[in-house]
Amino acid sequence: MTTFKQRIFSGVQPSGNLTLGNYLGAIRNWVALQKSYESIFCVVDLHAITVWQDPEVLRNATREVAAGMIASGIDPKECIIFNQSQVPAHAELAWIFNCVARIGWLNRMTQFKEKAGKNREGASSGLYVYPNLMAADIMIYKATHVPVGEDQKQHLELTRDIAQKFNNDYGVDFFPIVEPLIFGEATRVMSLRDGTAKMSKSDPSENSRINLTDDRDVIAKKIRKAKTDSEPIPETLTELKDRPEAQNLINIFAALSDRTALDVCTQYGGMGFATFKNDLAELSASVLGPITEEMKKLCDERSYVDQILKEGSQKAREMSEPILKDIYNIVGFLQS
Ligand code: AMP
Ligand code: TRP
Repeated sequence: MTTFKQRIFSGVQPSGNLTLGNYLGAIRNWVALQKSYESIFCVVDLHAITVWQDPEVLRNATREVAAGMIASGIDPKECIIFNQSQVPAHAELAWIFNCVARIGWLNRMTQFKEKAGKNREGASSGLYVYPNLMAADIMIYKATHVPVGEDQKQHLELTRDIAQKFNNDYGVDFFPIVEPLIFGEATRVMSLRDGTAKMSKSDPSENSRINLTDDRDVIAKKIRKAKTDSEPIPETLTELKDRPEAQNLINIFAALSDRTALDVCTQYGGMGFATFKNDLAELSASVLGPITEEMKKLCDERSYVDQILKEGSQKAREMSEPILKDIYNIVGFLQS
């Protein structure tokens, strides 16, 4: 009997350096899942230009993000790795989804509200319809599971709504209803400067995040400077509740060491943050160091990464084209 592997799709924007948030919230989980699922990982350059990107910087960031995925352990022989713009079916299906998703649904998207900020009139229309493109990314491969960080949960609910509405409107059972895969001790890594804000590539403060390109000294400095409170580390999780900065560092420690947050609290409970921060810096450098090194090597070997992206795009085109054809058929586009 042939065993049927379910399919995962996930993506990262090449809008800056990969962060510890990307690693713990997403990429590390992809590595763990790649053997059990047929896996497609995408550098989503079409998404990145929803806010301004300098073309040369975008090109480099695209290679760097791909290198980061490979350096973290994504196996290009097992998985498809490519950049989104090279597979036209994403944008083509996104147009159809623009016509399926309702404006009211998009108006509820918190990421748009956060990214557009006060100047909503000045945001690109791409930023507004971005979740429709994200739904298309997943549905153009009929992926069944999507491993992401906590912040993407709402977008995946929208993806489910779009798939459901398409199936209902056209009276078909075509698109699967995706399952988000959000797991680990750090599904939402927060800024090192503000425990209530997400660690993000685009935060103006460098000290707010750890980049996968940071060396040991930079990591240690950022962790030493990380905001904490004046209370000692608690022994139980309930006492962490209203202490977002402490909670964040404990979660990061737990995720990096493959332990539970409670286990970490038990070890450090009652102590101040100084020893803990030293240990966390050591731990971060030991986990991220080999990845950073490998990433640097890969970035120097441009043609190797470019070749992987090229082959990945080719495979992704081959997978997506027949699915788009079926969709065009369902929608009633006359195909010549
Ligand atoms: P982005 O950098 O926005 O393209 O995010 C790529 C992936 O990383 C998504 O699955 C996000 O949910 C995840 N991610 C980004 N930032 C964080 C964070 N601070 N904590 C956890 N996951 C994150
Ligand atoms: N929107 C995601 C983010 O900013 C990136 C993304 C684009 C994605 N398309 C996707 C994630 C499809 C999962 C599946 O983090």
